[in-house]
Amino acid sequence: MKILYAASEALPYISTGGLADVVGSLPKAVKAELGADGDVRVVIPLYPSIREKFYDKLELVSEITVKLSWRNQYCGIWQTKSDGVTFYFIDNLYYFERSMLYGNYDDAERFAFFSKAVLELMAEVNFYPDILHANDWQTALSVIYLKRKYGHLAEYRGISALFTIHNIDYQGVFDFSILGDVFELPEWDRTVVEYNGCINLLKGAIVCADMVNTVSPTYSREILTEYYSSGLHHILRQSDAEGKLTGIINGIDVEYYNSANDPEIVANFNCDDLSGKALAKADLQRVCGLPEEPGTPVIAMVSRLAAHKGFDLVKRVIEDVIGHNNVQFVLLGTGEPMLERFFTDLSYRNPGKVCVKLEYNKSLSKKFYAGADMFLMPSKSEPCGLAQMIASQYGTVPIVRECGGLADTIRPFNEYEGTGNGFSFRNYNAHDMLHVIEYAISMYYDHSKWSNLVKNAMKIDFSWNVSAKRYIDIYNRIG
Ligand code: GLC
Repeated sequence: MKILYAASEALPYISTGGLADVVGSLPKAVKAELGADGDVRVVIPLYPSIREKFYDKLELVSEITVKLSWRNQYCGIWQTKSDGVTFYFIDNLYYFERSMLYGNYDDAERFAFFSKAVLELMAEVNFYPDILHANDWQTALSVIYLKRKYGHLAEYRGISALFTIHNIDYQGVFDFSILGDVFELPEWDRTVVEYNGCINLLKGAIVCADMVNTVSPTYSREILTEYYSSGLHHILRQSDAEGKLTGIINGIDVEYYNSANDPEIVANFNCDDLSGKALAKADLQRVCGLPEEPGTPVIAMVSRLAAHKGFDLVKRVIEDVIGHNNVQFVLLGTGEPMLERFFTDLSYRNPGKVCVKLEYNKSLSKKFYAGADMFLMPSKSEPCGLAQMIASQYGTVPIVRECGGLADTIRPFNEYEGTGNGFSFRNYNAHDMLHVIEYAISMYYDHSKWSNLVKNAMKIDFSWNVSAKRYIDIYNRIG
C-alpha cells in the first residue's frame, strides 16, 4: 500500500502544535505496521529553519515549475528518510521564508501553491499513492485539486483521499475574488468550496474527500452540533449521513515521550521506581524559581494561550486555587496578548507560588510534564489533545474537562475502587473546575491513593499501536 501524507508541519522538522506531533509519528507507526507492504511518504513545506537544522540530511531530488493560475513558481523538491518513511520538502523561498508559519497576508496563495505542488510532486518523483492523506485547511486544496482537476488523468484516477480535521476552528476562509486568480478553480467549482458566502477550504475538502476523520471519536460527534462545529455542522451531518465521517484517537510517540529514558529531564523514572520524579520536581521548581518543597503539589499547564483551551475558567478561579491551598502553579506557553498579560501579572503578584514562562519550548515542556504533580487542561473544546497523554506518561495526573479527546483518554479516579487515570468535570464552569482541583489536592495528600493513581496514569498505553491499525482499516476501505 502506498500512502502520501500532506501537512503544513511535522516533527522533528518544524512544529507549532499537535499537528506536527501527529504527522511526525503516525506515518512511522503505519509503516511499522505495514512492513515491506507499505510505501509511506510525507510532504511538508521547506521552511528556512528546516534547511538550517537539517541541511546535511537533506538531498535535492528535483526542481520543477508549479503553475498556479497565471503564476509560474519555482518548486524545489528535497528529501530525507527516517524510520523507513520518506519525507519530502517543498522549497520556495518566496512563500516559505517567513517569520511566521501562518498568519501572513498571503496564506491562501502560499498553501494553494503547496497543495498544487503535492500533486505535481507525485508525477515528478513517480509516486502515485493509493491514498492521499491530507491534514487541516492548509492541505485541503490538495484533496480538492485531486478530485476536481487531476482525477481524470490516468495516473491520478486510482488515488483516494482521506482528510483529517485536527481542529474545526481553523477553516481557511477567503473571499471569492481569489477563486480563479489564486486558487485556479473555475466558476463551476464555486459550489464545491462555497460556504456561508465565502470560500471555505475545509468545507471543500470535506465534500471532496472519500473519507473524513477527526482526531477523537467524541469530537467527531461533537462537531455535528452547533456548539462545537464553528458553523460547519450542516456539512458534517451530511458527511456523517453518507457514512464518511469517523473519529480516531491520536497516539503519541512513546519513544520520544518516555520518562524511563528521556535525556531531556534531569532524572529518569518509571512506575515501579518514582524516585527520579522527585528529582524532576525539584528541577522544575528550581527552573521556575519556586521554593523546592517536595510536599507542595505543583499544578502545571503547557498550552497555547488561546481562549478555547479554557483560560477563562482558569482566570476566574486561579486566585482561589492558590489562595486557599498550599500549591504552586506553573504555566508554559505563548498566545493571546491579553492572556499573556493576565498570567504575567498573576506571577508578579504571587512570587514563590506562580511561575509563568511565555515560551514555546519543547525541551522545557518536558521538565513541566515530568516535574509537576497535576496537569490542568480545562479546554472548551479539544479535538484530541496530546498534552494530557504526555503528562500521564510522566506520572503527572491530568485534570480535564470532559470534551473531545480529553473525554476519550481520561477516566476519572475512583478513590474507592482505585480505578481511573485523572480527574474530570463536565460543565464548562469555573467553580466545577475549582471543586475538582481541590478534590485532586486532597487526594494528593493521601499518599497511597495518590501513588496508585500516578501508576494508573503511567500504565495506560497511549502509543499509536491501536490507532495506526484503525487508519490502515480506513485506507483499505477507500483505497
Ligand atoms: C490540534 C488540536 C489538538 C490535537 C492536535 C493533533 O492541535 O487542537 O486537540 O491533539 O491538533 O491532532
